[in-house]
Order: sequence, then C-alpha cells, then structure tokens
Amino acid sequence: MMAIDFKTTMASVEFPSIFLNASGVNCMTVAEMDEMINAACTGGVVTKSATPQQREGNPQPRYYQLEHGSINSMGLPNAGFPYYLDYVTKEHAKPTILSVAGLQMSDNIELLHKIQASEYTGLTELNLSCPNVIGKPQVAYDFEETDALLAEIFSFYTKPLGVKLPPYFDLVHFDQMAAILNKYPLTHINTVNSVGNGLWIDIDTEKVVIKPKQGFGGLGGAMILPTALANVRAFRQRLNPSIKIIGTGGVTSGKDVFMHLLCGADMVSVGTALLHEGVGIFQRLTDELAAIMAEKGYTSIEDFRGKVQDF
Ligand code: FUM
Repeated sequence: MMAIDFKTTMASVEFPSIFLNASGVNCMTVAEMDEMINAACTGGVVTKSATPQQREGNPQPRYYQLEHGSINSMGLPNAGFPYYLDYVTKEHAKPTILSVAGLQMSDNIELLHKIQASEYTGLTELNLSCPNVIGKPQVAYDFEETDALLAEIFSFYTKPLGVKLPPYFDLVHFDQMAAILNKYPLTHINTVNSVGNGLWIDIDTEKVVIKPKQGFGGLGGAMILPTALANVRAFRQRLNPSIKIIGTGGVTSGKDVFMHLLCGADMVSVGTALLHEGVGIFQRLTDELAAIMAEKGYTSIEDFRGKVQDF
C-alpha cells in the first residue's frame, strides 16, 4: 500500500498526523502527555482542561463504561494551570494544544491574560463546554455570554486560540453560534464535547452508575458519533474557511475517522476509545483509514475532506 501523508497544519502549526487525544483522556500528567507525544501516528497532545488552581474533581465513581460508549462526570480534575503551561512551554517532538477552562468568566479572562503574557506561542483551546462542574452551566449554550466573552478576549489576546464546543441539536443554533464565531479570529473549533447530562441505570441495583449529580453525566464513545458528525458538518458549512475543525466524538475505527473527514474535520480526536485501547489506537486508526483511502483510490485527505454528498 502506498504511504499516505497525514500531516496537517492548523494556525501555522504543523502536526505530523491528524490524530489527537480528546482533552480529558491521556493528558492529565506529564507522563500521559509524553506518552501521547511519543506514540506512533499521533499529531500531538491536547492537555487536560486546566483551571486556575489544581482540582480533585467530582466524587468517585465518576466514569462508567457503557455498551456503546461511556458516561462521565469527572468535574475537571486537573493539576492546575501552571502545571500545563509549564508543560506546553517546553520543547516537545510534536505540537501541544493547551486546553483551559475557567470556572467563571473572570477565570477565562485571567487565564488568557496569563497565556498572552507567557512565552507560550502555540495553540490554546478555551473549553466552553464542560457539562460536569456542579452548579456551572456550559458557557457555549449561552450565545450572548459566549459572544461577550470572545469580544473581551480578542480585545487583548493575539495568540492562536480555538474553542471547544458542546454539541448543538438545532439548525438554528448552528446558524447563531457560527455567526458569533465568525466575528473572531479563531484558529479552530473543537466539536463536540460530551453530550451533556445523560443518565444510565444498573437494573440489578436500580441505581445510577456514577455518583456525582445524581448520576447525570456526559456521554461519549460510539453512541455519539452521529451527533459529532452532524456538528462537524453543520459548522463546516457555516464557518469561515480560516476556522479549522477538530472533529471529536464517537471515533472507534478508521471508518469513523473517514466520516469525520468527509464532514470537513481538519483533525480528529479520540476520547473514550483511547481510554479503553491506549495510545496504540492511533496506529490502528491510521492503518484502517489508509486502507479505506487505498480502496477508493484516494492519495491525500484533500481528495475527500468536506466532500460528503447529499442523497
Ligand atoms: O468533567 C470533566 O472533567 C469534563 C470536562 C469536559 O467535558 O470538558
């Protein structure tokens, strides 16, 4: 089989492959982030979303594997912003994306001021979509607040910045959110975060399966693939071409990656399946994707990226 080049560029940053971890998986510690960087076929690493201070997150159990995916309510456990800023500021063999998540608006502004003032020149991703912080809504479901926040950020922030979005389910919401995002010099969106506040029950014990929030948690894995594909396609149809898309959600096979790319994803990140399979998954996904491309006679992702056809 002919070797296919999976290199890609986002905001002038060159990634050796299209594959990333979904923030939250394999990215909490230096050891995990190094493992992502050193693994075959990865493009780099996205850090766990950093809050200003270190957090333990929600009470355990807070993750549960389902037949077709997962449910979690981690609650942003992380080692704190200085830890991740220190990591991304160091030289690595592959690019990093610094994910940050304020617990309130003022945190987001403060974190971005700190990045602006730091030596870090790489990509940052502002997480506007964590469904699991008790008492805090997902910012990007509030369109006015998202707009106001981005306006304030881009009044001082000049480094590469993208946003992590929750899934949307209404075409009018895609129109509205894309119109907001198109006003700003964003490098990318990452779509989707987990499908917020699902619920699962163990019928033997008649109990919910995770402890926080009475069992409500974000859904990930295979079951959310159609939602993720819809979000990638809907945003690709509406966003300025300069805003790239990291497709996240539901990827367990090369076929799933192929579909994300057909919908217009520039890069693809993997969460639940990475957690279960480990970093070896990226070699498997690459081989499976290459096999599909070879069968179809494609020699480059550009041959089919964003070219999904209507019925
Ligand atoms: O609960 C969590 O730590 C999840 C974060 C996220 O979905 O962004």
